[in-house]
This record gives sequence, C-alpha cells and structure tokens, in this order.
Amino acid sequence: MTNSLRVNAPAKINWTLEILRVRPDGYHELRSVMQTIDLHDIITLTATDGDAITLGITGDASTLADDPPETNLACRAAVALRDRAGVRRGAHIVIEKHVPVAAGLGGGSSDAAAVLRGLNALWHAGLPHANLVEIAGEVGSDPPFFVVGGTAMVSGRGDYVEALPDAVAPSILLATPPQNDRGEKTAAMFAALSPHDFTEGEVTSGVREAVTAGRMLVDDGLTNAFERVTSKMQPETELAMNALRADGYVPHLCGAGPSFFLLYGGGADVAHELSARIRTLGFDACPTHALTRARALHMSEL
Ligand code: C5P
Repeated sequence: MTNSLRVNAPAKINWTLEILRVRPDGYHELRSVMQTIDLHDIITLTATDGDAITLGITGDASTLADDPPETNLACRAAVALRDRAGVRRGAHIVIEKHVPVAAGLGGGSSDAAAVLRGLNALWHAGLPHANLVEIAGEVGSDPPFFVVGGTAMVSGRGDYVEALPDAVAPSILLATPPQNDRGEKTAAMFAALSPHDFTEGEVTSGVREAVTAGRMLVDDGLTNAFERVTSKMQPETELAMNALRADGYVPHLCGAGPSFFLLYGGGADVAHELSARIRTLGFDACPTHALTRARALHMSEL
C-alpha cells in the first residue's frame, strides 16, 4: 500500500459572482458559478508515524514558507481531518506553488481541499464526500468548492456547493499582477461593497441553466460584483481592465481580484497577441482553459 500521493490543486475563476446581502453572522450571502482551470499547485503527501503535520513550500511563492504552518490553510485542513476522523497518523505536506498567491484564483483554498481529499485516501480515513465539504467549510469559504471541482454553483457563504456538468467554454487568458498584497484583501473587498452592489442571483441562475443545457458560455452572461469596487480598491486592475475594454475586449475579475480573465476564440496566435497586449499593461499573461471535474480531482500514487 502506498505511503505517498501526488495531488493537483487547480486554480479557479468565477463565471459569475453575485453578492445578495450581509448575513447575521457578518459573512456575505453569495451566488457564484465557479470553474477549476488548468493551472495548478502540486501537492505531495506522505503519511508519517506519530501525529505531527509538517509543511514544506517550494516553487513560485516559496516566501509563503516563512509563514507559521498553523496559519496555512492546507495544514489547518490536515489537522481538522485528523481530529474529525480520529486518525492516529501524521503527514508531511509539500506544496509546489504555481498558482499566484492572493490573486483571486483560490490557490490556498485549493491546496487545503487537495490535502483533505488526499489525506482522506492516504490515511484510509474513509470520510464521505459530504463530510470533506463540511470540514473544508470550517477551514474557509472557498475550500468547499475545490472538494467538488469542475463547474459548480456555490451559495451560502461559499459552503453550499452544487456540482454542475463541466461547462463548455472558450479558451481563457488569465492576467495577474506580478506582485500581490497578501494582507486582508478579501475581507477588505467584501467590506467595500454596499447594498447598491447587491443583486438577486439571477445572472448566476442564467449561467447555471446554460451550463446544465450544455450551451457555450459567452461574455454576455457573466458578472462579478467586486468589479464595482475595483476602481477604489485595486486601481491598477481597473486601469488595465479599462484599457482592454477600450480595445473592445471584455475582461472579468477573478473572485475578489486582482487577477482577471478574458475569453478568446482561435488558437495560439490569438493567445500570443493578447498576452503581449496584457504584458504592455504590466500584468503577467497565462493562457489556460476550463478543467473538467475528472481532471481537477485526479490523484496519483508515488
Ligand atoms: O472564509 P474566509 O476566511 O475565506 O473569508 C475571509 C473574509 O472574507 C471573511 O473574514 C469575511 O470578512 C469575508 N467574507 C464574507 N462573506 C463570504 C466570504 C468571506 O464577508 N461569503
């Protein structure tokens, strides 16, 4: 029986992100159709004797390794699973970072979900899927989506996830600022919203319907409430998105930003041209595409 697993932790974009209201617990009630994409961190999990959870971080964001492990979502997920399942084993987690940190792409949340799925298998903890979604919700608002992966509609504060069929979508070009402020960005973006920015979730219902019917997603049906506060909160992103709008493109914010994405038809030459334009705006460009649920949840033994 294997002692090590490799699990991919894909990034996400939001086809829609609507905020309905502030809830009595202070969180925001949201409706979002989320999508895993083909850009991922690589997580190696090794089961160990004793009950220690240890962490190593390599790759593009190895500065994360300076953070205390208990603040890392992946470690918190491992501890929560170990305690909930009553497992008397430990794990060494190595995260090879490729997903930009604090960019609105869900990297840290995806790492946490990948650790839950992986350790559930490696430790033979045997927790059902619904329990993993629940534990993911204790770790944060985004991890539950990543336990499901593919295309899914998310509601509540992020903790209710309805799996949808894999979306049919054009190619995606991601634009990410080279450096992100890792502070309390998400909380600040939520706090900047006012009731004028709240909607009923109807755009999300429309996209859910389109996905369920297998219709190709197009710019027209997409929305993100946080775009209403980017001019105030993320002026560089606003400038870049406006420049692209002036060129006739339709940029969409990823989560609470500051990354955004464009949909494009055509092949590598279109991606190349669009990437060059995005780089002139001071953003990194990364051509990618929607990742199916089957591929998003893939794990392999080492
Ligand atoms: O759940 P998570 O720790 O990722 O959320 C970070 C912060 O974002 C929360 O403390 C809260 O201020 C805000 N948030 C919110 N409504 C949500 C999710 C997050 O207000 N649905």
